[in-house]
Amino acid sequence: MSGIRVTDIAFGRVTAPDLDRAEQFLTDFGMVRSDRTRTALYMRGTDPSHHLYVAELGEPRFVGCGFSAASEEDLEKLARVEGASPVESIDEPGGGKRVRLTDPLGYGIEVVHGMAQPAPLPLQRQLLNYGSERRRRAGELMRLGKGPAHVRRIGHMVLMSTDLRRTVDWYRRTLGFLCSDDVYAEREDNLVGSFNRCNRGDDYVDHHVFFCIQGKKNGLNHLSFEVEDIDDVMLGHEHMRSKGYRHAWGIGRHRLGSQVYDYWYDPWNRCHEHWTDTDLLNARTPGNLARAMVDTASQWGEPAPQEFREHATP
Ligand SMILES: [Fe+2]
Repeated sequence: MSGIRVTDIAFGRVTAPDLDRAEQFLTDFGMVRSDRTRTALYMRGTDPSHHLYVAELGEPRFVGCGFSAASEEDLEKLARVEGASPVESIDEPGGGKRVRLTDPLGYGIEVVHGMAQPAPLPLQRQLLNYGSERRRRAGELMRLGKGPAHVRRIGHMVLMSTDLRRTVDWYRRTLGFLCSDDVYAEREDNLVGSFNRCNRGDDYVDHHVFFCIQGKKNGLNHLSFEVEDIDDVMLGHEHMRSKGYRHAWGIGRHRLGSQVYDYWYDPWNRCHEHWTDTDLLNARTPGNLARAMVDTASQWGEPAPQEFREHATP
């Protein structure tokens, strides 16, 4: 039975042994509390989504991710895929309906529709001047407040898999992902990475919503969140540093996807990315085959540390 084309990533779900500590990290990272129960924390960004991150009380591990379906009919269709749950009402803050699946690594994938969409949170930003457009902010002084970045939305999840092809095939078949860049090392049939995006037809979407890395173990490499702009990446970096969090990699600009990035570990060694300014592609853009190290090196910024390249938490 074939899958559907999800429209975007919706949230990440993890477990954490201390929800106060989780909330402090996520607040410093730039999210805002949407709701909290005795056993779970729901964090949002400035975009109109009830939550983009769920932390449930428990031994630290990555539970999985939510993705958005275009309609309830799509949920009904997905429920007929082998191993899928029936369409069920979501019994937690934000509501909506979902179908649950298990990916080849054992992570829980929830495809959701009809979750609450609260009003966006206000964010004041001034125009930037460019060398070729020097008067965009003429007569106005730029004044940025100190503090956390402003997370807008969740951008992508990155998993390490000991069997990249099987993992990527499942996501493409089940959630309708398209290849943006497959990455090979030495021989073209030796894939070591795969960047995948949503298929929304002519609509432009982020370069990747799911990146899979071939590795020695299965696990989460990082979850990634879009912030407002480059000032947010820099201010967020200063804020995270001032709070003593452990830095993973950055600041730089990727080549595949082109985002300006910065990566931080949470108190349980889970990696979280801030990014801004992604490439946008639509279904007409053909998949690309890229060379590891050559085409994957940052356009500027330090190369990825070995610890980050090999990073995967359960
Ligand atoms: Fe990323």
